[in-house]
Amino acid sequence: MAGRDVKGRMAAAPADRKPDGVVRERILIVDYGSQFTQLIARRIREAAVFCEVRPPEAAAAELAAAAPKGVVLSGGPASVYEEGAPRLDPVFVERDVPVLGICYGMQLLALDAGGAVRPGKREYGRAALRVRDPEDALFRGFAPGEDLQVWCSHGDHVDEPPLGFRTLASTPDLPVAAFRRADRPVYGVQFHPEVAHTPRGAELLRNFLFRVCGCAGDWTPVAFASEAVERVRAAVGGEAVVAGLSGGVDSAVAAALVHRAVGDALTCVFVDTGLLRKGERELVERAFKDACLVVVDARAEFLEALKGVSDPERKRRAIGEQFVRVFERAARDSGGGARFLVQGTLYPDVIESTSSGGPSAVIKTHHNVGGLPGDMDFELVEPLRDLFKDEVRRVGRELGLAEEVLGRHPFPGPGLAIRVLGPVSEARLAVLREADAIFLEEIEAAGLYDEIWQAFAVLLPVRSVGVMGDARTYEHVAVLRAVTSTDGMTADWHAFDPAFLRRVSARIVNEVAGVNRVAYDVSSKPPATIEWE
Ligand code: XMP
Repeated sequence: MAGRDVKGRMAAAPADRKPDGVVRERILIVDYGSQFTQLIARRIREAAVFCEVRPPEAAAAELAAAAPKGVVLSGGPASVYEEGAPRLDPVFVERDVPVLGICYGMQLLALDAGGAVRPGKREYGRAALRVRDPEDALFRGFAPGEDLQVWCSHGDHVDEPPLGFRTLASTPDLPVAAFRRADRPVYGVQFHPEVAHTPRGAELLRNFLFRVCGCAGDWTPVAFASEAVERVRAAVGGEAVVAGLSGGVDSAVAAALVHRAVGDALTCVFVDTGLLRKGERELVERAFKDACLVVVDARAEFLEALKGVSDPERKRRAIGEQFVRVFERAARDSGGGARFLVQGTLYPDVIESTSSGGPSAVIKTHHNVGGLPGDMDFELVEPLRDLFKDEVRRVGRELGLAEEVLGRHPFPGPGLAIRVLGPVSEARLAVLREADAIFLEEIEAAGLYDEIWQAFAVLLPVRSVGVMGDARTYEHVAVLRAVTSTDGMTADWHAFDPAFLRRVSARIVNEVAGVNRVAYDVSSKPPATIEWE
């Protein structure tokens, strides 16, 4: 039987084991709060090695219990000398496990070894790295005389290698841009190999994984998913299961996986929250016509729960709670009294929402993670909890899900409620739905849908003055948002041709009663987020 945590979650705990109990090859990433920690995980998984991000205390406890193939200490915003700054738990260097400290992680290693960290010299941006020791496994394949572009983002740095360490590479400003302990594979790099601005960073990380840690690199998301099927089957036994379908990729893939494991014991429930995009319900009914699908009309309940609520976090919690109540009812009425609830929770949702208790700041409560009430009656089945979005799409393709579903832009669980800024009402939802549909229709007609990660309209909680047919208007403002991204963690606004924006704007103002102004959002993430709330 799979392990469960206090919230009754399963399918997450045994990720370090295969179904036959064999310990999975794994890299442990210790999160000291860097904005790039997830990128480290991406790069490692792209090299076909499984890895997990953990806050320092949990990582130390795990390391004591079961040795991973290697440990990566992330960067972080703190300065090592600051009061309350995270310290290095000695367990990370006491074990016979290779270690790579990145930026703050390197500084912790230096300090732990009795070396000095020089504070206060900010360096941000590109630097030219010279490898001094190309024989070392970490820099194998890197020519010594060549300038390598690396990307730095730090306030402190190491000027001299601590006793027992030697310098492997330098930049004009950093005499010790990379070091290693002479007698053991404990490495530190001051620059960030995980970011795209360090073009050969992935190669350096692969050297760490394969030459230093001796990883085999046989992990794939598809293999992982089939193991998840085994775990789900073992955990659920013959009991009834309900899955919430949103029409989005994640819930569809999660349901398909669970369907493979438990067959007809699964009932898929689609809740019409009244917060859906135009035509969404019809699309889901079409796409899942062969599944055991129950459609619940809960529009009135959701609107009631959102009455008078303007605060984004309160909206998210209200919706999360409402969802679970509706599911509980659907499970009783149509799901044969199911005890298990499938959710398409992804790894970034887990990290961003709870940070696994680690130091990265909570940005938003995702309705399908942190927003769940503690008293719910379900045990959660979250087979995608350890995967990133593109990995989930690969799993979906393997399962034979329709491209129409797999290729869809992500849509947040709280739906249009977090795109109608301020109070939510049926009338404002209707305005937004129409504007959003026109924008997406034009994007598809222009053949741009697949190159954009996500596109949608937002309704502002203010009105603006306009003039139409010689008369003054005082009406809604719609904002259009379209971003490119690979995983939703960072994003850039999409540069439309001005003629395209002119066409969309004219259509919205002419066809959507109540909107007299359209704006285009030109913010990247960070500092903005993709959704406005
Ligand atoms: P942000 O706004 O945090 O969004 O940059 C990143 C991605 O997550 C989606 N998102 C959600 N997905 N439940 C979800 O399932 C949620 O509560 C939620 N909030 C945001 C967002 O649409 C984007 O793709």
